[in-house]
Amino acid sequence: MNIVRIQGVSKRYAQDGISVDALSEIDLTVDSGEFVALVGPSGSGKTTLLNLIGALDAPSAGRIWIEKQEIGRLSRAERSRLRLRRLGFIFQEYNLIPVLSALENVEYVMLLQGVGEGERRRRARDMLREVGLEGLEHRRPAQLSGGQQQRVAVARAIVSEPVIVLADEPTANLDSATGAALLDLMRRLNQRRGITFVFSTHDAMVIERARRVVRLKDGRIVEDHGARRP
Ligand SMILES: Nc1ncnc2c1ncn2[C@@H]1O[C@H](COP(=O)(O)OP(=O)(O)OP(=O)(O)O)[C@@H](O)[C@H]1O
Ligand SMILES: [Mg+2]
Repeated sequence: MNIVRIQGVSKRYAQDGISVDALSEIDLTVDSGEFVALVGPSGSGKTTLLNLIGALDAPSAGRIWIEKQEIGRLSRAERSRLRLRRLGFIFQEYNLIPVLSALENVEYVMLLQGVGEGERRRRARDMLREVGLEGLEHRRPAQLSGGQQQRVAVARAIVSEPVIVLADEPTANLDSATGAALLDLMRRLNQRRGITFVFSTHDAMVIERARRVVRLKDGRIVEDHGARRP
């Protein structure tokens, strides 16, 4: 089943009289359960594409569906709901809330979703154990290493059981061993829970482990290797 369908999508940024065609006529579908790397040189449009799939920004042309919903036809409230209920995000800078503990950071999304306190706590603890952070639940982000913070961010992204996780250079700030461990974790979640992952990367180790590699250049897809064929 298609979880993401992108049809004829272009994105032009126009600012101060300068316009940049960040994406041009992108067609792409991602099936449920895929593990997809977006690769390509700096400026090729990876972050732009992730932001569009994540309903964080709107295309200049073309259409995007998540599951059966066309993002462009949703109201602002429906888009927020889609992000909260169906999508998980992992950013390069982790975006953890500094004053909250690891546990509270993971609980936070469920708080927004209206999950009750007991269940919130239980699921956040289970998830932190799953990402190997048992015993560190009460530390704030500043008291954790980069790799540990990134694992909190992964736990937060998946605790609400999204259908797809979007990650922008998730290993960029990690040493290679920590990056490899993070990727193994993502892959395990992909295989065991069937969560679809789409992530951008420059990292050769990550590209090697991706099931499917979509290569962008100057805002166009120039290669799509390992895609499932019907
Ligand atoms: N808010 C913006 N306003 C204007 N131009 C932008 C904006 N964001 C991105 N761009 C331009 O759009 C193009 C694509 O940028 P994007 O950030 O998607 O690339 P990227 O592949 O993620 O690069 P990197 O590997 O460096 O993260 C670049 O030319 C960039 O300068
Ligand atoms: Mg980028």
